[in-house]
Amino acid sequence: MNSNQVRKEFLSFFKKHGHAIVPSSSLVPDDPSVLLTTAGMQQFKPYYVGKADPIRDFNSRDACSAQKCFRTSDIDEVGDEIHLTFFEMLGNFSFGGYFKKEAIHFGYNFIVNVLGINPERMYVSVFEGDSDVPQDKESFRIWHEELGLPKDKIKLHSRANNFWGPTGNEGPCGPTTEIYVAPSVAEAMEGKGVEVWNIVFNEFYGKRTDQKLELKKLETFGIDTGMGLERLAVMLQGVKNVFETDLFHPLITQIREVAPHLDERALRVLADHLRASVFLIADGVRPSNKEAGYILRRLLRRILVYGIKYDIHADLFPIAVSFVKENYSEQYPEVSKNKEILDAMLDEKTKFEKALALGVKEIEKYGEITAQDAFYIYETFGLPFELLQELVPAKIKNLDKKAFDEEFRKHQEISRAGAEKKFGGHGLLLNTGELKAGSQEELDKVLRLHTATHLLQQALREVLGSDVHQMGSDVTAERTRFDFSFSRKLTDEEVKKVEEIVNGQVQKDLPVGFVEMPLNEAQKTGALHFFKEKYPEKVKVYYVGHSLQDAFSKEFCGGPHVTNTLKVGKFKISKQEAVGAGVRRIRGIVE
Ligand code: ALA
Repeated sequence: MNSNQVRKEFLSFFKKHGHAIVPSSSLVPDDPSVLLTTAGMQQFKPYYVGKADPIRDFNSRDACSAQKCFRTSDIDEVGDEIHLTFFEMLGNFSFGGYFKKEAIHFGYNFIVNVLGINPERMYVSVFEGDSDVPQDKESFRIWHEELGLPKDKIKLHSRANNFWGPTGNEGPCGPTTEIYVAPSVAEAMEGKGVEVWNIVFNEFYGKRTDQKLELKKLETFGIDTGMGLERLAVMLQGVKNVFETDLFHPLITQIREVAPHLDERALRVLADHLRASVFLIADGVRPSNKEAGYILRRLLRRILVYGIKYDIHADLFPIAVSFVKENYSEQYPEVSKNKEILDAMLDEKTKFEKALALGVKEIEKYGEITAQDAFYIYETFGLPFELLQELVPAKIKNLDKKAFDEEFRKHQEISRAGAEKKFGGHGLLLNTGELKAGSQEELDKVLRLHTATHLLQQALREVLGSDVHQMGSDVTAERTRFDFSFSRKLTDEEVKKVEEIVNGQVQKDLPVGFVEMPLNEAQKTGALHFFKEKYPEKVKVYYVGHSLQDAFSKEFCGGPHVTNTLKVGKFKISKQEAVGAGVRRIRGIVE
């Protein structure tokens, strides 16, 4: 079955069962707390919590969709067999209509009876339970007793694997049951399947606060499911990886035709990035230095760099634009604006070529290039190490890639603003997503403002209460901009108090340090963390004070900061405003 048919079968199966077919929402979500659409449920968040009425809007409590999704957290993995940036998610949803029994039966019936997958190639997982949420015995029973899955094909998984958390800082969430499909019965026995379908039981409303996810029972339970189309296609088409499915194969073939010398990994990266760029542009994203625009810029520039590095003479952009139009416009009509999409790509190409020319001029100034120089050239002009090897091999003949990587690692701190922003920067000396600086002078200022931001958050919590938590943060050499949860304007007195607390800590000249530790230990320290982040296994906890235990402020953070608070200087709140319901924004400066 080809992927177009799978999409159609999926939607018509659920339509037959009373679901409204809802078109994909844009990759750029309405919800300002998330950068890009990462799941099918995102556009439905208001329906789960009673803020919108599904009957009025779709004439049904149940809906289904094929949703365009983009996950930046997977970007570094692209090139392997399974990870992608852009992908499609098929999902069925219920807002107070059906629950576990129907959702599980729908999933099973679609896979076995519509797609014709042998149920012996399948196994599932259910939530094993923990101190907050009990074991999901009901799902276990349904799988085993009603659908006949043997007990050893029903695995119990923990919170880390079988619980869907809220997107953004809060939202509906709950335990999941997940369906895995293996290429063969034997591999299913060995547990060597791929998770193709995630069924979420939205029983809770989750809010990320300082240390943990706070869960409240939802009045009306909901269903949220997601099936990755590309992964499913691998299983259905009997191929080895997503790039061999019909969703990619024609594009891979065309790239291979014009660049037969490319290795497999390069081909995959190009195919993923090209397809994703077309979809982002079709949804109105344009290359820039921030947010979604920055993600797009990274994708396009990586494609362009590969063009130079691998000596590709053909122009891949028109190939990609035609491919996406031909294969996807029936489902996603916005990708047929091919001239507009191609123009945006070519415009970025021109900009990149200019940056490249400047970079090349800069390189002329150097004799031998050190790791620090190479990193500077990368950050400022966007010329990666691989490109230097092509352009000026003599100047870097003594420079080991490892030394560059080490330099890169030192500088490229992961932003606490989260996985969504974790790209390193082009054209900036420092860009963690949250912090941006173009020169050494700006960098010094940004570090002062960054530390001030940590002090500010703690001071706000002391003055306004510990419900206050970070909703966003952006630091430039001019100011810090800090968004936090709070529902009204601060009084003059409160503003004054906050400033006094910050400046009081500055005057104490406290050291600023960090410890790196496993995520679960870090959570136990009580350090504040940002809702949006899907944190890595190891995180840094930055603290202001003589030790982590008695610190005035502690936060999960990639850094960097000043070494001690006196360096911050005098902090002042320069402006406050509302940025949405329950979210305030403060701008602050240091003198
Ligand atoms: N929201 C769930 C997911 O994206 C279904 O996996």
